[in-house]
Amino acid sequence: MSNVTLHPAVASKSPIVRRQFPRSDVVEIFQKPIFLAPMAGVTDTTFRVLVRELLDDDFKGLLMFSEMVSAAGVHYRNEKTLAMLRTVKEERPTAIQIFGSEPAICAEAAAYVEELGSTAVIDFNCGCPAPKIFKNGEGSALMKNPALLEKILSAIRRAVSLPISVKIRLGCNEINAVEVAKRAEAAGVDFIAVHGRTREQFYSGAANWEEIARVKAAVKVPVIANGDVRDFDSLDKILATTKADGVMIGRAAQGNPWLINRLLKYFLTGERLEPPTIAERAAVMRRHLQKIIFYKGERVGVCEMRAHAAWYTKGLAGGAELRNQFNRAETADDFLKIIEDINGR
Ligand SMILES: Cc1cc2nc3c(=O)[nH]c(=O)nc-3n(C[C@H](O)[C@H](O)[C@H](O)COP(=O)(O)O)c2cc1C
Repeated sequence: MSNVTLHPAVASKSPIVRRQFPRSDVVEIFQKPIFLAPMAGVTDTTFRVLVRELLDDDFKGLLMFSEMVSAAGVHYRNEKTLAMLRTVKEERPTAIQIFGSEPAICAEAAAYVEELGSTAVIDFNCGCPAPKIFKNGEGSALMKNPALLEKILSAIRRAVSLPISVKIRLGCNEINAVEVAKRAEAAGVDFIAVHGRTREQFYSGAANWEEIARVKAAVKVPVIANGDVRDFDSLDKILATTKADGVMIGRAAQGNPWLINRLLKYFLTGERLEPPTIAERAAVMRRHLQKIIFYKGERVGVCEMRAHAAWYTKGLAGGAELRNQFNRAETADDFLKIIEDINGR
């Protein structure tokens, strides 16, 4: 640990403040319980703003999860890390997700984030399978170490007064999500999201919703089910299987920022909104490009937009050729010309 002074909230030995459950702000969060999953490199401010813009007016209070942010990066005041903590009013309310493995550092990062005032919830990552993270004992590696996870979450609980949540997997190699969830609950988390795969599975194989159901039955705090939800039918099925309080949508929202509104509307009203037309897709791609350039500049924006463009055009006639064109695009104008071409199809 460096000699940077820890935040006073972390240094204090105050006991965990036991909360009256349910907290009113958490109840409010679960009024709109279809969430965009945190996805590093995807759900940045641009994407979160876009998803929110596409929500019906009644749904605007939906909570948005950030990409994961390193607690150590916050501790060392790494500029890129601190930039990821900034949220804009158009995307809020936001849950900032942090990852780490040292209780004091994680608690300090949480206190720092709370003090910035840009987040409504502090979420903790216990699911990232990436080797770089796993080797450091962070992300999904914590599934192997529930005692340490409980210490981290207790330290965060003591350091902040905002609601806190944790996003877990089913386990590392073996399934132990019920034990981990109970430890998280004991540490004072306000809700738990469960991705129905082990670390060993990364993103392959079908998500195991039955195991998410076991977690839901084992804890009192609200549970969000996650894994393989992509349409109305899979939403119905995951809810029926898990009895979860909410559902989180990851990959199916890539290039598909309308999906959250369509699934939330279906959940709340039963109405099945039509998927967007090609003209609507082209219009949103244009907005996405403008926003990403606004937030990140043209060079980075155009580069990052290539991946989004590939997702937006998946399944379109001539999609492979379009993706080649997007990969060659160097400027915003190049991009806009290709989008124009999509619109003319
Ligand atoms: C590109 C990508 C980046 C991800 N980044 C994060 C992350 O930063 N934090 C996190 O908790 N989960 C992350 N995940 C996992 C997703 O939040 C989600 O749990 C997973 O994709 C399963 O849901 P799905 O089947 O709906 O995609 C990421 C997934 C993908 C595909």
